[in-house]
Amino acid sequence: MYGAKSRVILEGNLFQPSRDLRLGRRFTFQQDNDPKHTAKPTLKGFKWKHLNVLSWPSQSPDFNPIENLWYDLKIAVYQRNSSNLKELEQFCLEEWAKIPVATCAKLLETYLKRLVAEATIELIFAAFATTASASTSLIMQLLRHPAVLEKLREELRTRGILHNGCMCEGELGLDTIVSLKYLDCVIKEVLRLFTPVSGGYRTALQTFELDGVQIPKGWSVMYSIRDTHDTSAVFKDVDAFDPDRFSEERCEDKEGRFHYLPFGGGIRSCLGKQLATLFLRILAIELASTSRFELATRNFPRVVTVPVVHPVDGLKVKFYGLDSNQNEISSDLLADIKTEELLGAEV
Ligand code: HEM
Repeated sequence: MYGAKSRVILEGNLFQPSRDLRLGRRFTFQQDNDPKHTAKPTLKGFKWKHLNVLSWPSQSPDFNPIENLWYDLKIAVYQRNSSNLKELEQFCLEEWAKIPVATCAKLLETYLKRLVAEATIELIFAAFATTASASTSLIMQLLRHPAVLEKLREELRTRGILHNGCMCEGELGLDTIVSLKYLDCVIKEVLRLFTPVSGGYRTALQTFELDGVQIPKGWSVMYSIRDTHDTSAVFKDVDAFDPDRFSEERCEDKEGRFHYLPFGGGIRSCLGKQLATLFLRILAIELASTSRFELATRNFPRVVTVPVVHPVDGLKVKFYGLDSNQNEISSDLLADIKTEELLGAEV
């Protein structure tokens, strides 16, 4: 298949259906970055149509040893110039047999390295991008909802963690952190309304029916976390940022197993769930107790959802440290340090 053919396929399977569904530009196209899908005319066409294409690591034979062997085989067979199909098959068999065992052994030997590289890239996305997204959303929601921030500070005061605005050293153990109920509600609500990961894929192990639609065995099925949170009937006033929906009295998430699933569901759900929530709780405690912060731009930035929820061009925030009497730490005291660097941060 060549670039031109792939463009015909795109017209029939992407552009026409997006027109039929009246999607306009409200969708993001994800592809595997195979060279024929990234040919210059194709990319130009994407640009011309203002298509939002997800940037994605290119398809790499590094992660798939057999791809290296296919490549060697292709070159060897091509050089023999077959004149008919029978001959082509014969050359393939001969050249395949000629590949030295040492070549395969080397590919296997270095496989572990490639696997580590792949796992590292995956973990950077799974752990870093997600937690960064949730942290940014947390800060943005605390900025948007000062009453929530104040209620959080009140909880910290009531629990003796915050005195006159200062966090008292030595009192913040794991037990205390996980027992802060309102804090838990705030984190849960951030992850409901600003779900960092939009969904996941599963393979159907057997044919089944869902709402009258048959899903055949072997199909890849995408489940959408964001749509689930958006459409779940258990959440009242679904668009409102309302941490109290998770309070003991209301417990909106307790009605079913799969209405609230920011960390996915089933055996392939998030491995870092506890670590991520602990991190977010500590961040919220730190922000509520040791700093005052404000938006450094006139308006809140626009938020996009791909590849994770994040503000376009970042969220610019000014942080002011508070001393033990809840006074701002004077910038004179910080004269030796570049104040702007210290207090202005881009999240
Ligand atoms: C707020 C932060 C996070 C969110 C919202 C999140 C969300 C998710 C979701 C939805 C999945 C399941 C995807 C699926 O169904 O296929 C997942 C999987 C995973 N997450 Fe997280 N995650 C977060 C943080 C972390 C952290 C900090 C780590 C590691 C330290 C981590 C490691 C993983 C791993 C290894 C998987 C794959 C599990 C498997 O396939 O068995 N995540 N995460």
